[in-house]
Amino acid sequence: MKRIALIIVLILLAVVAFKGPDSLIGLAKMSRTASPEGQTLPNVLGQPMGKNGKKVLVAYFSWGGNTREVAKLIHEKTGGDLFEIKKEEPYPREYKPTTEIGKKEREQNLRPKLTGPLPDLKQYDVILVGYPIWWYIEPMPVKTFVEAQDLSGKIILPFATSGGSGIEGSVEDLRKTLPKAQVKDGLLVNMTGRIDSWLKENGLN
Ligand SMILES: Cc1cc2nc3c(=O)[nH]c(=O)nc-3n(C[C@H](O)[C@H](O)[C@H](O)COP(=O)(O)O)c2cc1C
Repeated sequence: MKRIALIIVLILLAVVAFKGPDSLIGLAKMSRTASPEGQTLPNVLGQPMGKNGKKVLVAYFSWGGNTREVAKLIHEKTGGDLFEIKKEEPYPREYKPTTEIGKKEREQNLRPKLTGPLPDLKQYDVILVGYPIWWYIEPMPVKTFVEAQDLSGKIILPFATSGGSGIEGSVEDLRKTLPKAQVKDGLLVNMTGRIDSWLKENGLN
């Protein structure tokens, strides 16, 4: 029995290693598209004072809307500013081509250009950075964002959504990218995606 379980685990690992995260998380999402423009949130800038008296920014990147919803919930609790990180040349609306571009950007360690202007990060004490996990880490536009200004001494709180991967790889990567910032342990919030797929299964989304 144990041997069969071990063989199944080994086969699954081989599939993931060969095909990447698509093989496990993508099938149900092959036809997914990015959320319609109408669902974007307005940025909130110029009122950095958060509810706890610290100057707070919630900055997030989201392709399909899951991370945007989490960012909205977090911002409602923290107060302060809210900013969406957007790539200048947007990703396709279809899932599969987006995964391919995301993979290429990661493999080539690219820093895609962002839509500006970016908020002046000097003014904040705490920056919450949200993103979907892409190929086990944060998408490259997030790296463009955090490297664009000096974040020495800042407290960075990462949060993410994913199709099942953990947030730890991205936190480790952010710590390497920002050795002078205090990158805290991150929070993975996969609830919104699960609500969507459950409603969809039952014809309500
Ligand atoms: C380019 C790309 C790569 C992805 N890579 C992973 C991955 O490595 N692990 C994972 O669990 N999910 C992966 N996903 C799924 C997303 O992390 C997940 O659907 C996330 O909730 C999407 O957030 P968003 O709606 O804010 O874009 C990937 C999705 C895309 C588009």
